[in-house]
Amino acid sequence: MQALAADPTEARVEALLKRMTLDEKLGQMSQSTELRAPLSEKNKAEIRQGRWGSFLNAAGPAERVEAQRIALKESRLGIPLIFGRDVIHGYRTVFPIPLGQAASWDPELIRQAARVAGREAARSGVHWTFAPMLDITRDPRWGRVAETLGEDPYLTSILGAAMVRGFQGGSIGAADSIAACAKHYVGYGAAEGGRDYNTTWIPEIELRNVFLRPFDAARQAGVATFMSAFNSLNGVPTSGNEFTLRQVLRKEWKYDGMVVSDWESIREMIPHGYAADPADAAFKGLRGGVDMEMVSTTYFDHLKALIASGQVPMSWIDDGVRNILRLKLRMGLFDRQPAGLAIAADPEGAAIARRIAAQSAVLLKNDSNTLPLTTKTIAVIGPLADSPVDQMGAWVMDADPKEVRTPLAALRDRLGEGRVHWARGLKSSRDQSRDGFAEALGAARASDVVLLFLGEEQILSGEAHSRAFLNLPGAQEALVEEVAKAGKPIVAVIMAGRPLTFPSVAAKSSAVLYAWHPGTMGGPALADVLFGDAVPSGRLPITFPRTVGQVPIHYAHMSTGRPPSEKELGIPMGTPLDPRGFTSKYLDVDFTPEFPFGFGLSYTTFEYANLRLSSPSMSLAGSLTISADISNTGSRDAVETVQLYTRQLAASITRPVRELRAFRRVHLRAGEKQTVEFTLKASDLAFYNSKMQLAAEPGDFHVWVAPDSALGLQAAFKLTR
Ligand code: NOJ
Repeated sequence: MQALAADPTEARVEALLKRMTLDEKLGQMSQSTELRAPLSEKNKAEIRQGRWGSFLNAAGPAERVEAQRIALKESRLGIPLIFGRDVIHGYRTVFPIPLGQAASWDPELIRQAARVAGREAARSGVHWTFAPMLDITRDPRWGRVAETLGEDPYLTSILGAAMVRGFQGGSIGAADSIAACAKHYVGYGAAEGGRDYNTTWIPEIELRNVFLRPFDAARQAGVATFMSAFNSLNGVPTSGNEFTLRQVLRKEWKYDGMVVSDWESIREMIPHGYAADPADAAFKGLRGGVDMEMVSTTYFDHLKALIASGQVPMSWIDDGVRNILRLKLRMGLFDRQPAGLAIAADPEGAAIARRIAAQSAVLLKNDSNTLPLTTKTIAVIGPLADSPVDQMGAWVMDADPKEVRTPLAALRDRLGEGRVHWARGLKSSRDQSRDGFAEALGAARASDVVLLFLGEEQILSGEAHSRAFLNLPGAQEALVEEVAKAGKPIVAVIMAGRPLTFPSVAAKSSAVLYAWHPGTMGGPALADVLFGDAVPSGRLPITFPRTVGQVPIHYAHMSTGRPPSEKELGIPMGTPLDPRGFTSKYLDVDFTPEFPFGFGLSYTTFEYANLRLSSPSMSLAGSLTISADISNTGSRDAVETVQLYTRQLAASITRPVRELRAFRRVHLRAGEKQTVEFTLKASDLAFYNSKMQLAAEPGDFHVWVAPDSALGLQAAFKLTR
């Protein structure tokens, strides 16, 4: 992208570009993972030659210092390397998986967590993280659901932008900031069948109204880089997709940051059936608009010949190199002499990790106020109760499991060893053996209450770790059945990388707390929640299905011409010819989810009343104030996450039955009432129509102020010209 020549950064970019050989340019456009400790002579020679612009996920702080010294001092033009790394949900200090963080619905806390991760990473010589992941998914089978911020484009936009601000701090030029990367651009979460890397087909209207939105929000938050994805989108791989990369990102959004491909995704256009050979892949990747090729080497190996033959204009290369140099200059990498690097936990990390893990936990059931606990003795049972690696979650590279505090350790600290009866029950979440059941039942019998730590071990979610079933793996359900024989109240704490289905466990438990993979401080955080030092405020950022057969399921679906009615819930069908039964539902399971998007209980109760609108209508240039009185009607101080949804009843294209427009975390003391006010602008109601124009359309709307996506106070308004 050409920018103003008066800009000193641009002037430096142009000056450098003029001095670069084609080999040096192609080197800048190449990212390698081959940097090992100790640095090899080959490594050193290549860095001197300018063979690589970047390394990812490679070596440690000492090697990064040495490699950068060689690049700055011994390469012809002294162009620095940029070191990228997957700093996804923490670096040394591990925070909950992104899906868990999203359950906090707390952008400020998420920003703080990313700030800690950014500081820790920067201190060890990492310049650039491949996060946040902004993929929308409606499919919990997809292993990478763990890395998402859930199913909703608005929530993902707000939380993703917060992560960008956290990683990048006030400026990417600061020594304690790292560059963020909006990934995977775009549509990756719509993989057919929830199988990772699979094909995606997303109509442009849906792409613009749902999948692109969080990326645009990240762009507006100043995200330094984008990553193209693995998936083919509407027949064209996203790493060679001129529509998404050139038309939308560069032309419409005027983005002047850098685009990196995902790992070998340029070469993978060959098995996709989109490129004939590596040279064709290089051509299509560059034509698409990918500036830097991750891991595969088609650019370096083939672009020279393509330039010589005139198939690729030098301007394509120069534009790519400009984007790379601009980033390195903006980050101040030319002038930074790294020293004293180390991998170490940030002093603020543990406290923030504890808070965000507590805020991420979603209370799904709490019969007879089983929680918070007041009991004298507890049984701690289950494969996830004392499993540091598993509780860290899907994407951790630099953490030390020894620094992880597990629930068992935290509960022993809190109650003393004598009051905690521990039995693992199963060796891992996938263990099918019942050898540990007798010990588990014994522990349950010896205690007043049973805490069961169930779920999924770490490797059952994340990249390439999709599942066809959403049940608790192994013999976990049987373990619950066994332990239930003790007749003690059961509290199920589920630690998992995705929404699971666990109806029989929920039925046998008095309380269910969904804890995701909560990270380093998961143990103390969960103890805080279980004993009431922290009152649950987490809300589901994704719909929980009743069964995998309902997937894909999400709250912001369209209505259909035959929506099922509430009255049909659980009512058996009549005769096959009874036209009353012909609605959009299942014969064998309720059409509603097990737990809706936005849902989560507290240790107190809230009442919503007195919904009012500043006016029954607004014009296309106007806005409305929508308010409701929210009361804490229980006996505990707590946070309620008040959600604003709208629905347009008729428009030029069908619109979702509900869309999240705003939310607010409101602190309410026991007995307190507050008026919560939202301002809704007509422009908030804009969507892309079938001509791909972004505009709000006049019409009738419903609006809800709600505790989740299925309930709430409802009113109506008109949008007028
Ligand atoms: C592949 C993954 O899809 C991406 O998310 C990650 O950042 C890169 N590998 C680098 O490790």
